[in-house]
Amino acid sequence: MSGEMAFVSCTVNSVTQEFHVRPEEMLIDVLRDRLALTGTKLSCDLGACGACTVLLDGKPVSSCATFAWQTDGMNVRTVEGLAAANGALDPVQQAFIENSAFQCGYCTPGMIMLARALLDRDPSPDRETIRVWMGANICRCTGYEMIIEAVEKAALIPLETGK
Ligand code: FES
Ligand code: FES
Repeated sequence: MSGEMAFVSCTVNSVTQEFHVRPEEMLIDVLRDRLALTGTKLSCDLGACGACTVLLDGKPVSSCATFAWQTDGMNVRTVEGLAAANGALDPVQQAFIENSAFQCGYCTPGMIMLARALLDRDPSPDRETIRVWMGANICRCTGYEMIIEAVEKAALIPLETGK
């Protein structure tokens, strides 16, 4: 891609967004700085920790390692887009709260998006599957057991329809 601005049309949390981006502009910068979706957190800025995880056409990606222009024509889902239209929390959000699956909370939005992606693929994952899948993201507070338990519990909570 040349140094020219690129036009991007994508859907973010079910709302169409259109903007021009520089070739080097990352998705997390568009989400946080232009769309004020600050639930997505920046930590390593290297694509290594998963704090900035969002779903791109349902697939978890590191938004700090995804160019904004790569989202053209795609659906982006962030933690702000998880609750149902009636305000009901996503089962993963509910289970994280009920299970106190966070300490400082900085990794939590990325963990929740990663878990949502897993349950969308496999609504009833076993513990080992959850452990391996969630191992893609880093919790610096090392609260992994509570996180894994929360994902197990989330799988038992019915998903609200009508999102
Ligand atoms: S902040 Fe994006 S992977 Fe760590
Ligand atoms: S709760 Fe602090 S980094 Fe995970």
